[in-house]
Amino acid sequence: MIGSLNHIAIAVPDLDEAMAKYSGPLGAKVGQPQNLVEHGVTVVFIDLPNTKIELISPFGENSPILSFMKKNPNGGIHHICYEVDCINSAISKLTEGGAMILGDGKPKIGAHGNPVIFLHPKDFNGTLIELEEVRA
Ligand code: CO
Repeated sequence: MIGSLNHIAIAVPDLDEAMAKYSGPLGAKVGQPQNLVEHGVTVVFIDLPNTKIELISPFGENSPILSFMKKNPNGGIHHICYEVDCINSAISKLTEGGAMILGDGKPKIGAHGNPVIFLHPKDFNGTLIELEEVRA
């Protein structure tokens, strides 16, 4: 069901500093910060030839990544995102299989304007998984 790796998200305490590291010493193509109010994060995408890196930092007082930042004050890998053809059929298959979808279980619009869901890490070896609908 899952397709390409769309991105790996790294939570960072200081977005400007992280962007400077990627555009400077690592010489990557770094995009512009976007506030995703509904998701409680500010994101910046870095384009790599075969995938993307998503730098994320908390946005707002109820950001869902605040507890992660408390446990990982220097930042760390937060989630990985796989592409799926159809988010609704992915939701059906996963919930039938007993997996837990975070939040209200319904897709939200993600950073690329596509529907996304997040799967509970306890069901997937301690990895928070984001699924993004990317239509071919
Ligand atoms: Co993501």
